[in-house]
Amino acid sequence: MRKKIDVLIIGTGIAGLTAAIYLKEAGLDVVVTTKESSIEETNTNYAQGGIIAWKEGDKRDNLEQDILKAGCNYNNLEAVKLFAMEGPQLVLDFFIDKLKTQFTQTSEGKLDYTEEAAHSDRRVLHFADHTGDVLQKSLQDYAAGLQIPILTNHTAIDLITNNHHSDDCQEFYKQREVMGCYVLDNLTGDVITFFADKVILATGGLGNLYQHTTNPASATGDGMSMAYRAGADIINAEFIQFHPTALYHREIKRFLISESLRGEGAKLRDSTGRYFMEDYSPMKDLAPRDVVARAIYNQMGKTGSEYVLLDIASFYKGEIPLKKRFSKIYQTCLEGGLDITKKPIPIVPAAHYFCGGIKVDLAGRSSLKNLYAIGEVSCTGLHGANRLASSSLLEGLLWAKLAAEDISQNFEKIEQQRNKFIPDWKRPNEVEEFDPLLLSQDWKAIQLTMWNYAGIIRTNKGLERARADLNYYSHRIFSFYKTARLNKDIIELRNAIVNATIIVNAATHNSQSIGCHFVK
Ligand code: SIN
Repeated sequence: MRKKIDVLIIGTGIAGLTAAIYLKEAGLDVVVTTKESSIEETNTNYAQGGIIAWKEGDKRDNLEQDILKAGCNYNNLEAVKLFAMEGPQLVLDFFIDKLKTQFTQTSEGKLDYTEEAAHSDRRVLHFADHTGDVLQKSLQDYAAGLQIPILTNHTAIDLITNNHHSDDCQEFYKQREVMGCYVLDNLTGDVITFFADKVILATGGLGNLYQHTTNPASATGDGMSMAYRAGADIINAEFIQFHPTALYHREIKRFLISESLRGEGAKLRDSTGRYFMEDYSPMKDLAPRDVVARAIYNQMGKTGSEYVLLDIASFYKGEIPLKKRFSKIYQTCLEGGLDITKKPIPIVPAAHYFCGGIKVDLAGRSSLKNLYAIGEVSCTGLHGANRLASSSLLEGLLWAKLAAEDISQNFEKIEQQRNKFIPDWKRPNEVEEFDPLLLSQDWKAIQLTMWNYAGIIRTNKGLERARADLNYYSHRIFSFYKTARLNKDIIELRNAIVNATIIVNAATHNSQSIGCHFVK
């Protein structure tokens, strides 16, 4: 099947849906796809802490300084300035005024701002600890009102480029440009040749490449892998941010314990009962994430324990009762047999956010013509070597608006004639039946390799070993991919091995320990 639209957006988190809203309102024909069966299976939906927003009296300079300090001055200064200038006000204009999103209020009916690590001010808007799902729902409702088509169960396979796919050999000699994407309909097995004048990748992060993560299983970095195969520039791929506090529990996995608990007073102690953060930073529990994650990792090693404890029960002084302020965390822990109002929470660090990605400019344009990337899959350089808490939702929001404006203001159609030379997806002549056991074994191997050798603390020897192991898995996975009956799982696995290799190569080439890339 062949389809033609103006803009194809892949991903339904804050970045994808915001771009879709702006583009649709600008009169463009947009389609949004997600590989998942439900629109809300996004990293956005799982965000707890909040979103940086404008607050009376906050100084733009202070926000800039906080971002640069957390990012170890490795940041793109232009991106930081743009973010601090336009971002915080956009939250009020877009979410509060336009989408009518509700945020938590104080008893005087004012917006309640919370604090997170490495912020010099309380400037994070939130809805209790449900910020992500509230924003996700607001965006979905608004997009539904605009009748934006969202195709669930549609997995992007590969970007279509003139250089790679055209049967017209003259296209090989032209500048490379993206002309659309091959997309698998998960339910029918058909592959759609989707022609689009512009493609926006908003596919989110890749935490699932690691054994321990706060991300959902869908976070396999599909956009980066596709962009890489198409020839786009990728940068800062060594910078994987580990969140210091994920729940340590036998049954409950991938559950974030928001940094805003520490913003509201919670303190870390080890299994001997010692509050250890002052050994590691004068900012103690509110030091930047990379510092806290490494401190916990070290302390676990020193005490021989598999977790440390986060104590909110003894320190919370907020106006809103603890059970209500952190209702999601309270409820989830209670279901796991732990009352956070009485006992400290066992936690471990876990892969959380990808600070690198597809290199983009201040309008979200990648190095390939017609290809944009926004949100976690992209690298604007805003985060430098380590991201400041609660900046990612806002980065996704702002760059979605900037990309949509750039597209609508400079919109040019690809000559229809050229699409005729793009063939449909070619299937292998003989297909091999898919064995879920092999697939799950390959996933485990990747996740363990990444956790052990490209994790919180890296060594040259470990990275070398990771390269060798990933190389071996790559051969196996690629040959399997070539003959397997195509489905979402095998597409994700191929993307994962490509991304793991990109990360390990980047880590190997950067011998400087900085931010969340730490080499011993
Ligand atoms: C958190 O609530 O700790 C996560 C916020 C973020 O990653 O920015």
